[in-house]
Amino acid sequence: MANNTSSGLSHEKIETSNFLMIVLILLTLLFGGFVVIVPLFFQKSTTEPIAGVQPYTALQVAGRDIFVREGCYNCHSQMIRPFRAETLRYGHYSVAGESVYDHPFQWGSKRTGPDLARVGAKYSDEWHRIHLTNPRDVVPESNMPAYPWLAKNLVDADSLPAHMKALRTVGLPYTDEQIAKAADDVRGKTELDAVINYLQSLGLALK
Ligand code: HEC
Repeated sequence: MANNTSSGLSHEKIETSNFLMIVLILLTLLFGGFVVIVPLFFQKSTTEPIAGVQPYTALQVAGRDIFVREGCYNCHSQMIRPFRAETLRYGHYSVAGESVYDHPFQWGSKRTGPDLARVGAKYSDEWHRIHLTNPRDVVPESNMPAYPWLAKNLVDADSLPAHMKALRTVGLPYTDEQIAKAADDVRGKTELDAVINYLQSLGLALK
């Protein structure tokens, strides 16, 4: 005789019923997920920026958009893992408080090129200008694609206020004034200016 409990929900009953098994597994996963994930929404270390992390400026928002549009994340992660080989090469490992203003985050999962989480201030603007226009001019063995059109296209200035408003709804602390002058802040800048400005801002808070 199986060890039936008085409640009637014995192991034998669960193990011989596909339906019960599936429902109870789902409930267990759901509970486990809640316990692991929900606290992250309330912990300061994951919801508040660390000292020195600022919301992106209008030009950096534009540059970040171009980074996404061009698919730079397909070859570049922005996530330094807490291993010695990584921290020796890239600097302090990434912490959650550095990413609170990133929507969507650019952690990535594949590195054909180096991690960019702390590339800010590593090179001069001029180096980036040459590198993005034709990587081979500064790194002869590079297999990174060239992005010559970035220097020719102007940033779409008029789309920025709406974009920054959207970012505000997901938590970026932009003021009405910052949003109102966003278009003028970037007018006349090239896409190359914007991407470089964005790259130069990456990872400075924990350098
Ligand atoms: C096909 C893969 C690939 C893509 C796509 C790509 N890169 Fe790269 N990137 C590389 C490789 C490989 C290197 C290392 C060689 C070099 O410096 O050119 C590199 C290097 C870099 C570096 C120098 C990093 C360092 O620490 O030395 C920067 C900055 C950079 N890429 C930015 C970008 C940006 C911005 C984009 C999108 C516009 C982009 N990359 C797209 C492959 C790629």
